Amino acid sequence: MCGIVGYVGKLKAAPLILEGLKRLEYRGYDSAGVMVCQDGKFVLVKKAGRVANLEKEAAKVRLTGHFGMGHTRWATHGGVTDANAHPHISSDGQIALIHNGVIENYISMKKFLLTKGYQFVSETDTEVLGNLLAYHYAKEPANAEESRFVSAVRKTLLHVEGTYGIVVMALDAPGELVTARKGSPLILGIGDGESLVASDVSAIVSRTQSVVYLNDGEIAHLTPSSFSITTLAAGEVSPVIDKVTWSITDAELNGYTHFMEKEIFEQPAALENAMRGRFSEDGSTANFGGLNITPAEFRNMDRFMFCACGTALHACMVTEHLIERFARVPVECDYASEFRYRNMPLFSNTLFFVMSQSGETIDTLAAMREAKRKGYKVLAINNVVGSTIAREADGGIYQHVGPEVGVASTKAFTSQLLIGGLLSLYIARMRDMSFSDGVQFVQALKGAPDHVRTVLMQAEHIKGIAKRYAKYRDMLFLGRLSLFPIALEGALKLKEISYIHAEGYPAAEMKHGPIALISEECPAVFFVSSGEMFHKVINSMQEIKARGGRIIAIATESCQLPDGLADEVIIIPECHEAVLPIVATIPVQLLSYYIAVELKRDVDKPRNLAKSVTVE
Ligand code: G6P
Repeated sequence: MCGIVGYVGKLKAAPLILEGLKRLEYRGYDSAGVMVCQDGKFVLVKKAGRVANLEKEAAKVRLTGHFGMGHTRWATHGGVTDANAHPHISSDGQIALIHNGVIENYISMKKFLLTKGYQFVSETDTEVLGNLLAYHYAKEPANAEESRFVSAVRKTLLHVEGTYGIVVMALDAPGELVTARKGSPLILGIGDGESLVASDVSAIVSRTQSVVYLNDGEIAHLTPSSFSITTLAAGEVSPVIDKVTWSITDAELNGYTHFMEKEIFEQPAALENAMRGRFSEDGSTANFGGLNITPAEFRNMDRFMFCACGTALHACMVTEHLIERFARVPVECDYASEFRYRNMPLFSNTLFFVMSQSGETIDTLAAMREAKRKGYKVLAINNVVGSTIAREADGGIYQHVGPEVGVASTKAFTSQLLIGGLLSLYIARMRDMSFSDGVQFVQALKGAPDHVRTVLMQAEHIKGIAKRYAKYRDMLFLGRLSLFPIALEGALKLKEISYIHAEGYPAAEMKHGPIALISEECPAVFFVSSGEMFHKVINSMQEIKARGGRIIAIATESCQLPDGLADEVIIIPECHEAVLPIVATIPVQLLSYYIAVELKRDVDKPRNLAKSVTVE
């Protein structure tokens, strides 16, 4: 989604802002803009398309100012045009604004502003907000206690319905930025003689690792040497300065062609990081430091509810399977976007979980707030430290896999699966699971990184398959039990980055509809594991084969597949039920990645997608 960078300091602002915007490209956007304040003027360049286009345009203009801001826009109100890109300057030329979010009452504001003589050159809600700011700023008397600028922003925001993360500059206050949030993340960067603001730490971490996470309803005032925060109701806020624990090299390609490729191959190390310190001293259960609920309270829960979006929901579905299988406690999973509106009846002793890599997905955040309003405790499984979900949850589990830049989630997903396994162990050990079964479970989880390494060694084999299958326009992904969510994830990965239509189904359900798609033109990817479902899955494969469909089998090593049944076979190690979904994910990540590369798709920035969806 939209990205924000703002800078006031001693250096030329434009190159730093453009660098920050490049770091935000992964979030998904369709146009970009940069603006600096210099020689008593706002100098603005904005363009539809990539930041690279913007950079070319910016190179034609003299941008020397030390104060400025930039934006990557993901269109909501108004098409993808140069005029609709941000920043927007008010029609009196006094105020410049960038904005993430959606202003819901912009139409009535616009009508009011038209009666006051303000003019509009774009179709955006942001320009309306910019003009309203200018209107209040012009009326603002000099006030000894507070800057006119902050006071005008506060008065304006009191009229706004909707969500926003904004950065504002005033022509007569060149070295100052005012920034405020409600529903869209903003982080202040506190540097040496410079201050920054961004929608994402990655845009500013090359300048400073000292950050302040702004909360909803807060307004910050930044100058090169100071910052202060107040609330919308003019209350003082004592800010907490946090340290970012990763550095910019963690968010660089380091020799890989794409971030998705890098993040796929990083998974053994990512899993090790996600499990570090997470086993009890006796080696028979899991150990979590930040749940903020006592083991006794946890033990008392009769049910667990999980909400998430996209890939994270697939991780919740595997977790559901594992908790029900090993701990025998009922679990419910729901799309966060549905849960937030469907007023679902919940049992009283239910512990609520949300899962989100970014910790900023608006639907997941809203589902969490709704559960909290109903009086439930909510724990978050989340990767980005300091994200809104992490801060608003009652407790939680960090994934600790470092920044994930590729839009298609890979290492975040497998680490969510690992945490799902740890949770199921923790809950099971509080119930019927024996000490020795617990020890075995722990050993199995510890073995996951090596199993993943083994599958990664087959990358060339999978690349060969990808080259043969990139020509198809439809594909099915079929699995059973804990591998059904992996089938959903495989189909999602392929769709996201290669734009090939794909569907995930429980293998047996295939007969009730999707089988109509089967022909030589629609291959099927089957997950086959040894055990109770083996023969059932083989039957489903036979049904596809009988109708001329090609088959790619991802099979555990002891599976004896009938000769000629699968056209392609990818062997994965035999492993514990909690580890199998992790290991089975790797081939579909690689397959999707290599197919997308074969089709010359923009792997890390697929069309229309955003890494973190912060608007409804
Ligand atoms: C977006 C991304 C998906 C991701 C989903 C949930 O749609 O494109 O890859 O799975 O959001 O993101 P979260 O950060 O909440 O896990």
